Amino acid sequence: MKTKIFKSEDTESIRLCGELIQNGEIVAFPTETVYGLGASALNDEAVSKIFAVKNRPQDNPLIAHVDGTAMISMIASDIPPLAERLFEAFSPGPLTVILPAKDTLSGRVTAGGSTVAVRCPSHPLARALITAAGVPIVAPSANLSGKPSPTEFETTFEDLNGKVAAIIDGGSCSVGVESTVVLPENENTLRILRPGAVTPEMLKTVCPNVILDKNILSPIDGSAPVLSPGMKHRHYAPKAPLTILSGSKQDVLAFMNDKVSPTVGILCFEGDLDGDTVVCYGKEGDALSQSQGLFHALRQFDKMNITQIYARPPETTGVGLAVYNRLLRAAEFQILEV
Ligand code: TXA
Ligand code: MG
Repeated sequence: MKTKIFKSEDTESIRLCGELIQNGEIVAFPTETVYGLGASALNDEAVSKIFAVKNRPQDNPLIAHVDGTAMISMIASDIPPLAERLFEAFSPGPLTVILPAKDTLSGRVTAGGSTVAVRCPSHPLARALITAAGVPIVAPSANLSGKPSPTEFETTFEDLNGKVAAIIDGGSCSVGVESTVVLPENENTLRILRPGAVTPEMLKTVCPNVILDKNILSPIDGSAPVLSPGMKHRHYAPKAPLTILSGSKQDVLAFMNDKVSPTVGILCFEGDLDGDTVVCYGKEGDALSQSQGLFHALRQFDKMNITQIYARPPETTGVGLAVYNRLLRAAEFQILEV
């Protein structure tokens, strides 16, 4: 398939991409979090194509993207008052809310469940595309399954050129990690299934009880039910195994200095260490720069001839929790005390 590349924000190219979506094609597009791989939420065949292109496990449901709250009634049967408060406070933006799904919504979107994940992105190109399509757009991150999510046009192109109808080039994503996914459990309780740039502290301003799902910081226990199937699958991983180093800054840097070599990669912060196999993801203590840099950094290691990566973890406050969650999963929860 010849993939069309749309470079600009002009209304004609967005209109054409909207038409492609209406015609059951899939289009990769930028959002403020990561690039998404979009199809009409109301077209079963188009939704199936997404799973095929990404090689995505069938049991992993998709997020439906809307251009405003009016569109939600096309996919969800109800917006409970807590969800309404959440959309009011954080939409458009990097927040996904799990709602009861409409009966008519395809089981391909919900993975056969009774709920649908809904998000209204703040990126102007994403919003314009949804409006042009006139339907909610389901979009997983635009990576091939298992790889780090693409946060710029180049990595999206690398994964999807020749496999999708079009890619919209919107430059780099401002957040860099995927949206916060929350499940309203009752009027006063919210469970965070995936941390993101809408932090637990922010969520507490609209909901008194905010619970962090246990799978955010620990691996899935095979026997317990998983609320967000995406957390079951190996994710965000570079080809070489990655180990997180735990200990004082001094001990971690000394360990890294000792290990760095042409076959050992180091993931750290700006100014920590120099070398051909050293990759930095943002600045120490600056969680937003880390979230912007993490996935790009992880992909750099796949261009090297390395057999092991050691990583310096971020602080886990604010957006740092999302960064640490992605790093933990890239490391398959391997942590080494130094
Ligand atoms: O920032 C984002 O959310 C990006 C951009 C493109 O919007 N999208 C994204 O989609 O990260 P994806 O498919 O890579 O991740 C969706 C996550 C998965 O962990 C999935 O299991 C969970 O959301 N999810 C989707 N629908 C769900 C549902 N009905 N109940 C529970 N979890 C759900
Ligand atoms: Mg993903």
